Amino acid sequence: MNYFLILVCVLLCYSEIINEKISQLPSDYNHKWYGGYLNDNQIYYQFLVSQSDPDSDPLFMWMQGGPGCSSLFGSFYEIGPFQFKPLSNESFINPYAWNKKANLLFLELPKGVGFSNPSKYQNDASAAQDALDALLDFFVQFPNYENRPFYIGGESYAGMYIPYLASLIINQSKNTINLKGILVGNGCTLGSECTDLKQLPLFTSKYQFNIYFQRGFLSLEDKQKYDQLCLDFTSPRCIELQKQLLAKIQYSRVDINNLLGECYHNDPDVQQGNGQNKRNHLNKRKRFLHFKGITELPCNYEYGNYFMLNNKTVQDIIHAKHMKWGSCSSSLDFKEDEQGSYRFYSQFLHYGLKIWIYSGDVDSNVPITGTLDWIQMLVKEQNLQETDPWRAWFMEGKKPKQRQVGGLTWEFNKQLRFISVRGAGHEVPFWKPQAGYVLFDNFIYNNTI
Ligand SMILES: *[C@@H]1O[C@H](CO)[C@@H](O)[C@H](O)[C@H]1NC(C)=O
Ligand SMILES: *[C@@H]1O[C@H](CO)[C@@H](O)[C@H](O)[C@H]1NC(C)=O
Ligand SMILES: *[C@@H]1O[C@H](CO)[C@@H](O)[C@H](O)[C@H]1NC(C)=O
Repeated sequence: MNYFLILVCVLLCYSEIINEKISQLPSDYNHKWYGGYLNDNQIYYQFLVSQSDPDSDPLFMWMQGGPGCSSLFGSFYEIGPFQFKPLSNESFINPYAWNKKANLLFLELPKGVGFSNPSKYQNDASAAQDALDALLDFFVQFPNYENRPFYIGGESYAGMYIPYLASLIINQSKNTINLKGILVGNGCTLGSECTDLKQLPLFTSKYQFNIYFQRGFLSLEDKQKYDQLCLDFTSPRCIELQKQLLAKIQYSRVDINNLLGECYHNDPDVQQGNGQNKRNHLNKRKRFLHFKGITELPCNYEYGNYFMLNNKTVQDIIHAKHMKWGSCSSSLDFKEDEQGSYRFYSQFLHYGLKIWIYSGDVDSNVPITGTLDWIQMLVKEQNLQETDPWRAWFMEGKKPKQRQVGGLTWEFNKQLRFISVRGAGHEVPFWKPQAGYVLFDNFIYNNTI
């Protein structure tokens, strides 16, 4: 063995994770996974090789929202091979894992999230640069994956991260990174779609209230008041009313991330919860807790990952530093870009990037109506041609010959596709794992759904 091979083995062999040692996870999983740090020991990553053909399957990277939430949340509750049941320490092997036919990479970004080292002042541009540096370092540590077709996906505030990073890759590293497409779910694109920044610290959008009224979660009287006082959405009178209406929604124990889903917050484990878990959770759903008088816990299903990742034995096994892990950072000093990420889409269209935008249609956090608004704006501005008219898409039912409507879809220029996921909340693969997987598989391997 020559010196070079020994060196590679020190880098690679060191970071491989032997799954059987982690008692919190099912032991009957036989595929390699890796964990450790990139960028000079700063950014924590988890890398789950494909369960089919790691040597030729594409590479897909997942980004979480927030800003400040860890993509390990996505790994353990949405798309990874190990999933925790809601509010439980019990885990299981995910039959709809996104690494069935793709290599799956998670980075804990920006700095200060999860096991990654903290940093002072950050913004969308610095986060994208850190992500690119981490990726380039990943390809140094895992050279075998360098020329693979590469895709980036994620949800919520990743609607900002993903386009920023994709644009940076095109500008700086398009010869090194074989970027093929982006997949954005219930993502923040225009400021007004997610959070009207003039609205801070309320974190509300018009679309959010529209969906409450449409679904009948607020009364007709509320609607009348709203119509009167909210002609200007950011006026003081309207903001006062929004606070009252949000309190009503919260007291009715509706999950803003899935208006039709279960709200798990009555569970005694969370109500009594240990301090950290509770804090995490308050921070994560901060948009409901920024004003006085609200003491109820919002809905939450996260649990087992917290105990597992804060166990020092596990931290050693997964090559993480000994530190307190939380799924959303409460101390991030992060300035959101008021321009949004919409402006990068014309570059992607010219570059030939495959762009799939999906939306769980019962999310009130980043509602489907807001997503459709900016897509329509883009279609108009860029004069895009409809190549697949609005239609239903299907997936296998529980029994043969009982195919079900997964949602609706619409495509432009054979490049930009919108897909709704029927009955799914903000975190589509959590609420509708099968639909999420069908969507992902088609994104990576087909041109349609
Ligand atoms: C920490 O993790 C190890 C390995 O999975 C496990 O054996 C041990 O019981 C865990 N400790 C606690 C307090 O859960
Ligand atoms: C989950 O595991 C942690 C750590 O092992 C333990 O403290 C907690 O009581 C467990 N919760 C449940 C509901 O089993
Ligand atoms: C990439 O370059 C384009 C064209 O100069 C520019 O508009 C865009 O802002 C750049 N992207 C990033 C993330 O800096």
